[in-house]
Amino acid sequence: MNQYLCAITGFTACSLQPNSGAQGEYAGLLAIRAYHLHRNEAFRNIVLIPISAHGTNPASAVMAGFKVVVVKCDEAGNIDVSDLTAKAELHKDKLGALMVTYPSTHGVFEETIKDICATIHLNGGMVYMDGANMNAQVGLTSPGMIGADVCHLNLHKTFAIPHGGGGPGMGPICVNDQLAPFLPGHLLGYEREGLEVSAAPFGSASILLISYAYIKMLGVDGIRMSTEYAILNANYMKARLEQYYPILYTGKNGTCAHEFIVDLRPFKQTAGVEAEDIAKRLIDYGFHAPTMSFPVAGTIMIEPTESEDKAELDRFCDAMIGIYEEIKAIEDGRADKIDNPLKNAPHTQAVICAEEWNHAYSRKEAAFPLYYTTQNKFWPSVARVNNTHGDRNLICTCEPVSAYETETA
Ligand SMILES: Cc1ncc(COP(=O)(O)O)c(C=O)c1O
Repeated sequence: MNQYLCAITGFTACSLQPNSGAQGEYAGLLAIRAYHLHRNEAFRNIVLIPISAHGTNPASAVMAGFKVVVVKCDEAGNIDVSDLTAKAELHKDKLGALMVTYPSTHGVFEETIKDICATIHLNGGMVYMDGANMNAQVGLTSPGMIGADVCHLNLHKTFAIPHGGGGPGMGPICVNDQLAPFLPGHLLGYEREGLEVSAAPFGSASILLISYAYIKMLGVDGIRMSTEYAILNANYMKARLEQYYPILYTGKNGTCAHEFIVDLRPFKQTAGVEAEDIAKRLIDYGFHAPTMSFPVAGTIMIEPTESEDKAELDRFCDAMIGIYEEIKAIEDGRADKIDNPLKNAPHTQAVICAEEWNHAYSRKEAAFPLYYTTQNKFWPSVARVNNTHGDRNLICTCEPVSAYETETA
């Protein structure tokens, strides 16, 4: 498995210990820290992190003992190279690393990535590549090829381990020759002792088999094709949806990587509709909403991956277009601003089947907005909850220990 992951990332050594992407970041940064210490450069304690980075990046950096300096992004969502260069030069005596996600969390392949890595190296730092978006790289390019020194792989994203229910995951790290001696060790002696990041030497070894089988069965051509399909699927959906919704960022030629961000913010002014209304309404259309408000608040990020067939991609686009029409109806005054299917979403079976129906739209519009929902309907079990109230009024649902008592003394 290590050899496969090294070939995919363009690196020479690998540790399977980390159990998540975030733990991989921590392990990779510890390796960088150990490398600097070994060279008697413990003072290299600054990590540059672009503003678009995932929140785990700065958290891992701080946990690994670094100080974070934030780098700006330009209007197109790319790293602001002049800001990066200025900050790398300013901190060159203390520069430890850059953490960078490629393609970026904005869903764009940054054309300056090689120059960015070179600038960091020139100023004494190492490059940590966040591998969360490897789905757009595998078989086409690699962190090693681009000039990074270490990366993690989210096997639970890019390599078929099912996730979404909170784990378990695997976030192995791969490194180049310079960092290989500083990979996490393990007291069981499977790897060099010291710097363990998890209790088990091979992380969540049982689920590792899923990724092993995925790579083995698809082979070199198959995993490259997965990447190509992931990128193609995202661009297909973008091409359909951009006729209705603004797409926040694209590359120079108007395409995206394996994901794209749909900007929902304008609808707040025009129809009083917010991202959460759209996310909840998607449930009535039979979909779990995609990532919401990351990396930009008030948006959704669509990442279809290679796994869905065209019919499913089309169904999702139809749902988004259906929702667009509902927003348009509010904008045009054909639907009420407060009592509309978006604001009241999601609609449960209990609500739809109740004796009373006091809304300005029909039960059919609420529960069966498109034909396919009449053929295969997903019924949510709860309607909209008050998030703020919930967050502020935590309750413990565990019974007290006495409730388990079977005999009284
Ligand atoms: C860009 C990025 N980096 C890091 C992570 C952290 O990965 P994990 O959730 O496996 O800890 C994520 C997770 O969503 C991510 O999107």
